Amino acid sequence: MADFTWTEEGTLYSEKYEDIYYHDGQGLSETEYVFLQGNAVEEKLTKQNLVIGELGFGTGLNFLTTWLAWEKLAIDKRITFVTCEKHPLDKDFFEKAHAAFPELAHLSEQLRGKLPTINTGFHFLEFEQGKVSLLLMYGDAVDVYKQFEGKVDCWYLDGFAPSKNPEMWSPELFQQMARHSHAETSLATFTAAGFVRRGLQEVGFDIERVKGFGNKKHMTVGRFSGHVIENSCVLPWFKFPAKSAAKTVAVIGAGMAGLNIAYYLKRLGLDVTVFDKNSGPASEASGNKWGMMFPLISKKMDRLGTLTKSGCAFSLNQVRELGVVHKQGLLEFITNDQKKARVYGGLERLPKNYIELLSPEDIKEKFDLDYEYEAAFHHEAITFSPVEYAESLIEQQELTCLYNHELESFDKVDGKWQLSFKEKESDEGFDMIVMASAFNTAAFSQTSYLPLRKTRGQVVYLSDEQLQTDIETGINYVNYLVKESEKNFVLGATFQVDDDGVDFRVEDTRELVSSFNETFPGLIKDDVNAEELSGRVCFRAVLKDHFPLVGPVCKEAEYKESFEAVKHGRPRYQYPEPPQHEGLYLLTGLGARGLSTSALLANYLARMILDGVSILPETHISAVHPSRFLIRDLKRQH
Ligand SMILES: Cc1cc2nc3c(=O)[nH]c(=O)nc-3n(C[C@H](O)[C@H](O)[C@H](O)COP(=O)(O)OP(=O)(O)OC[C@H]3O[C@@H](n4cnc5c(N)ncnc54)[C@H](O)[C@@H]3O)c2cc1C
Ligand SMILES: C[S@@+](CC[C@H](N)C(=O)[O-])C[C@H]1O[C@@H](n2cnc3c(N)ncnc32)[C@H](O)[C@@H]1O
Repeated sequence: MADFTWTEEGTLYSEKYEDIYYHDGQGLSETEYVFLQGNAVEEKLTKQNLVIGELGFGTGLNFLTTWLAWEKLAIDKRITFVTCEKHPLDKDFFEKAHAAFPELAHLSEQLRGKLPTINTGFHFLEFEQGKVSLLLMYGDAVDVYKQFEGKVDCWYLDGFAPSKNPEMWSPELFQQMARHSHAETSLATFTAAGFVRRGLQEVGFDIERVKGFGNKKHMTVGRFSGHVIENSCVLPWFKFPAKSAAKTVAVIGAGMAGLNIAYYLKRLGLDVTVFDKNSGPASEASGNKWGMMFPLISKKMDRLGTLTKSGCAFSLNQVRELGVVHKQGLLEFITNDQKKARVYGGLERLPKNYIELLSPEDIKEKFDLDYEYEAAFHHEAITFSPVEYAESLIEQQELTCLYNHELESFDKVDGKWQLSFKEKESDEGFDMIVMASAFNTAAFSQTSYLPLRKTRGQVVYLSDEQLQTDIETGINYVNYLVKESEKNFVLGATFQVDDDGVDFRVEDTRELVSSFNETFPGLIKDDVNAEELSGRVCFRAVLKDHFPLVGPVCKEAEYKESFEAVKHGRPRYQYPEPPQHEGLYLLTGLGARGLSTSALLANYLARMILDGVSILPETHISAVHPSRFLIRDLKRQH
């Protein structure tokens, strides 16, 4: 039996739950009545940004209807729509379901254009220049809301009928709702079932039974009046400061990290100035001629795998929106057993239209490369020019970038951050600083505890005349080869930890060429002389656990004192607020994957600072938090 069928009116029906997705043929009016009016969404939207929490995304009709209401109001407020779905639908279900509502067609098309290929984990989609956004959390409602961080203003409870799907109306889920509610939080649902009303009352909602939609007698609305739980899902030592009211921000560094955080903070309404010590944007690690955006496929798709995967999916939407020229698709060659175990593990967990195993014969046929290896083809990976990408971030948000400004120190004076640059002072004070100055970020008294390391990377340029291939698709093996223009390729890259030599080295060129020749004999022509090749040297900022540093900067001595007891273990609620420098944040340590993760991480940081809402799950918040090394050290002292 099929999992789903359609009613004559074109409404989706779930065979598993024996229930329809919404009122047959009247979904849009039902949503407007039950969820929007039930939560007074339009009235609230005229006064404030809204975070809406939904239980049961389904075909996304509630999201689209809310977006339509926002569009009609034509106001400057933001909607962050947070939702969960245990049984994600294929894109064609969305198309068919939405066909019944022509007024939503233009929004449905945009939504479908950005829906993820992968149906697990968190996905963050932005529309209307970020003013309407969707955090789509795939998984069981209780599990994903446990991983969610942030307060919700209005709840839409839209699981199937309580009698058909009690899981979506369970005390555990209501507890999660309470945890994400504040004193003004409202709720609305189509049901008036007694056990639902009682369950919601038990976790602190005042409940009212009101007239239901159409011929339904009753539905339920409510307001949270219980104890507002300050404790977030995040471990107490990784808590972010309260939402910021900052207006002005200085971003240090005009690489991928700095420009992305500047782009998102400006889009969310802040007055942003970017400072860089060099004479233009993307002049260091972010300045390679051509780069790749592709996820780290791992055996179990663990935290680093899922973070890079989410980063790439988000960046792909961003690059398309920015209109940055790119080539889609990438071949990851399986050249040894270690790689085979890793990639095969990932292949089992991910859909074929995302990553697909190609045989040597397939590769010969499609790419005219005749070698014995298999390869994983990344359908959603891209190669592109990071410099062009950086320039379009600046252009599209008209970012103010001040070059030849090398930050030497900064200090809080009368509530504002004052910056001192080499040979210049800034007269302007800022409410906030975001340090995005790569490995240099640890060069200041407030940040010296960060264990950032420098890793040298040399790339080499080859022309089409020096190669026996003209492959347009990027190839990754131990190293990589990407075509950057009509005639030119980049062969990269060395990975030399703690090496800060800026010189371009012939021995590194030889090593890159010979490793390529070993893997793909004959592809570089015999007469190519390594000594005559040119290229570029730059440096990655890395951490030993390979995760970046994203979040607030703590006051090291006070922080260690506050969390000294972690080594003995103590109930979490007994810990104080983490001592942090107010208005000082980091986005750095992007390592070897910064082109793939910087946009998502910047958006995460921007929204966490301004809205207190995390677009990353708790597992990632902890993994990237800048204080993690201090906590690990404290735990080790036991
Ligand atoms: C050879 C090589 C190849 C790579 N290829 C890929 C790839 O294919 N895919 C991928 O995802 N990632 C790749 N990476 C990683 C990626 O390039 C980096 O992670 C990313 O560019 C880091 O961006 P960033 O903004 O943090 O650092 P940067 O681009 O280095 O920017 C830091 C900026 O801070 C400025 N700055 C520093 N100190 C100061 C100061 N005191 N005052 C003012 N300004 C300051 C610098 O001038 C610089 O512009 C590669 C890295 C290397 C080295
Ligand atoms: C009534 S439908 C939602 C209709 C939806 N709002 C729409 O616009 O189409 C209920 C949804 O809840 C989902 N669901 C059911 N049990 C769930 C669970 N335990 N966790 C998360 N989602 C669940 C179903 O797959 C279904 O998509």
